[in-house]
Amino acid sequence: MSRYVLLGPMGAGKSTVGALLARRLGCELVDTDVRIAQETGRSVQQIFAEDGEAAFRRLEREVVQRLLNDPSARVIALGGGAVLDPGTQIALGETDGLTTVFLDVPASAAPRRIGSGAGRPLLAGDATGVWLRLLAERRPLYERLATVVVDTGQRTPAQVADAVLGVGVGT
Ligand code: S3P
Repeated sequence: MSRYVLLGPMGAGKSTVGALLARRLGCELVDTDVRIAQETGRSVQQIFAEDGEAAFRRLEREVVQRLLNDPSARVIALGGGAVLDPGTQIALGETDGLTTVFLDVPASAAPRRIGSGAGRPLLAGDATGVWLRLLAERRPLYERLATVVVDTGQRTPAQVADAVLGVGVGT
């Protein structure tokens, strides 16, 4: 039975599509940002503000690795920057039965997807500009780590979920 890991930039729809996928597969979505918040009792925003990005990345690495080692976690939505961690990169490649999906977003859709960047500490200030820069930096990682790439530009979340499950037309 395949397990799905959703990768991609902020605003790609990882949580929305992940929830749809999980429902269709009859399981729960595990969203790493939500899991980190549950385990620490603090929001992602608070962790960034109080402890900084490096501390957030350590928590994220631990949570992601634990989830990848847990076969009951069948649909996992990763935070946009989780792929930066070398250990996570290796684990994604080595975990059996994973379908890793890059939810790609055309640059033109950025303003609509991320709005002012509220709730996303890395997007403070020039949200669209930062988002574009981060996606350009991370795109090679998403592409290398993904076994499936789905362009979300012209698709509804349900159509993206269909494409992930292989019942849509093309990817
Ligand atoms: C981040 C993405 C966020 C969250 C944090 C950092 C990033 O998750 O993990 O704000 O570095 O791209 P989403 O991609 O779910 O918004």
